[in-house]
Amino acid sequence: MAIFYDNPALRDYWYAAATEVELTSGPVSRTLLGEAVVIYKDPDGKAIAAPDRCPHRQAPLSAGTVDRGVLVCCYHGWRFGEGGKCVAIPSAAPGIPIPKNGHLKCFETEVRYGLVWICLGNPVTDIPKIGQEDDGAFRRINNPVNLWKVSATRMTDNFLDIAHFPWVHRGTFGNSQRTLVEKIKLRDLDDDFYGYEYGVIAENPPSASLTSGQDTTDTSRHMTTGFNLPFTVRSTIEYSTGLQHILLLLTTPIDDLTAYFTFVVWRNDDFRVSAEDMAQFDRMIGEEDRTMLEKIPGVLPFSQGALASTQSDKASAAWRLRLTQLLDLDQT
Ligand code: FES
Ligand SMILES: [Fe+2]
Repeated sequence: MAIFYDNPALRDYWYAAATEVELTSGPVSRTLLGEAVVIYKDPDGKAIAAPDRCPHRQAPLSAGTVDRGVLVCCYHGWRFGEGGKCVAIPSAAPGIPIPKNGHLKCFETEVRYGLVWICLGNPVTDIPKIGQEDDGAFRRINNPVNLWKVSATRMTDNFLDIAHFPWVHRGTFGNSQRTLVEKIKLRDLDDDFYGYEYGVIAENPPSASLTSGQDTTDTSRHMTTGFNLPFTVRSTIEYSTGLQHILLLLTTPIDDLTAYFTFVVWRNDDFRVSAEDMAQFDRMIGEEDRTMLEKIPGVLPFSQGALASTQSDKASAAWRLRLTQLLDLDQT
């Protein structure tokens, strides 16, 4: 039985589904909240997302091709162009009208931060705003969309948690000497994110020096971590040198137990190191989290009393409470 992913309230939020770059090589197949979706770029260059079922005989459209912005079904060759409109039926004589239900019923779609965002219902919020996107001092680095065999609930809980740094991230930046988490004070970090700020002394091994811009053995970071419902987390890092590293961690539930993960980075560095090289260290950190979380089965319990928590879990508790309210679940 589904626990959360088929909750209708979740359909009214935006989810990152694909990188814009993926759409250049044909139709993309994704499953969001249990719904199979095909994504392609139409002749106007607009990203289109629709149920991955041809209106004709329900073949998966993602198994077809994209011909100059026209999605071609692999079964009988029906062609879908601008805005998902059926523009040609090869078996029909010229002049025969397209059936009224022969067009794709498209979902709301936006391209932002190099990603295609989809809302399956009627959006009740905007895509979270990242001010650095419009700041010329920053560059954006995108990363692939990967499938994790982890519940979206456990991923968001993990991304809000800093107590695992010295344990899970020993291979990257985690400092095994500093396990204590200072008292957490939650507040609105800005209009879109609710969370906390804190200081961290992080290991700075040679593999981290590209990211930190320093070659000392450790670095002092001022950080914030906050969430935007339902499953988005932003972490900001500011080094004592003024270098900022903003991470947008995006989790898109496929179902209760699997999810897509991608992240976007903004940095005000000198742009000398390639985006690909710069991304490597953060990708290693993500792999450390995935390896840990794939060991934990099931959905994170929603009820507050079901888990033993301590003060370092405060942000996760606040997120869980707000998520249960959004889902209209029993909070006891
Ligand atoms: S099922 Fe797509 S064209 Fe027939
Ligand atoms: Fe982590």
